[in-house]
Amino acid sequence: MNIVCLLGSPRPQGNSAIVSKRFCDTAEGLGSEVKTFALNKLKYRGCQACMTCKTRLDRCVLKDDLSEVLEAVRESDILVIASPTYYGDLSSQLKAFIDRTFSFLVPDYQTNPNPCRIKPGKKLVFIQTQAEPDENAFSDVFPRYEAFFKWYGFDGTHLIRACGVVDAGEVETHKDILSLAEETAKTILKQP
Ligand SMILES: Cc1cc2nc3c(=O)[nH]c(=O)nc-3n(C[C@H](O)[C@H](O)[C@H](O)COP(=O)(O)O)c2cc1C
Repeated sequence: MNIVCLLGSPRPQGNSAIVSKRFCDTAEGLGSEVKTFALNKLKYRGCQACMTCKTRLDRCVLKDDLSEVLEAVRESDILVIASPTYYGDLSSQLKAFIDRTFSFLVPDYQTNPNPCRIKPGKKLVFIQTQAEPDENAFSDVFPRYEAFFKWYGFDGTHLIRACGVVDAGEVETHKDILSLAEETAKTILKQP
């Protein structure tokens, strides 16, 4: 399986990066190939609403560091999105990526039963970290984005969430979360 992992935190050794590494290392051990992009190191803009991807091109017309990321996601079997919770949402680094996936949609996406240009059947692994220990807080983030990815034809979605983690690396003490990351990789890759 081809896995693309998008790190949305500016902290290279942050909690979301640690959880996603555990998932990706397990998947690599089971024979998958992983491409990781630390979005914070890349230079790109959000969607410009130019509509070129709905008129002249089947790709985003912007040529920047996100072009390679969007191509890699098109080719992937599994997409890992790893984000800290920032003001009750994904980090802006990831939100800008998601806005640029507008280029995945066909021109008549509003009425077309097959609205997406990318092949269906991909899996989504959504890793969310937050300082707030209450699991009810910010539990709306995953379902909101999950709905968009299902619309894109993703047919398996998995949430791994770490609540009550503040400092970078703190999630290392949450063995249950790291085990869940391993188990999720095994489940998706159908290993006992
Ligand atoms: C700009 C900013 C906004 C944040 N907003 C929230 C928030 O709304 N809710 C929350 O629980 N934690 C919030 N946090 C804390 C982070 O989500 C938390 O520290 C998380 O574990 C960071 O993940 P990382 O180590 O992968 O960067 C915020 C942190 C920053 C820097």
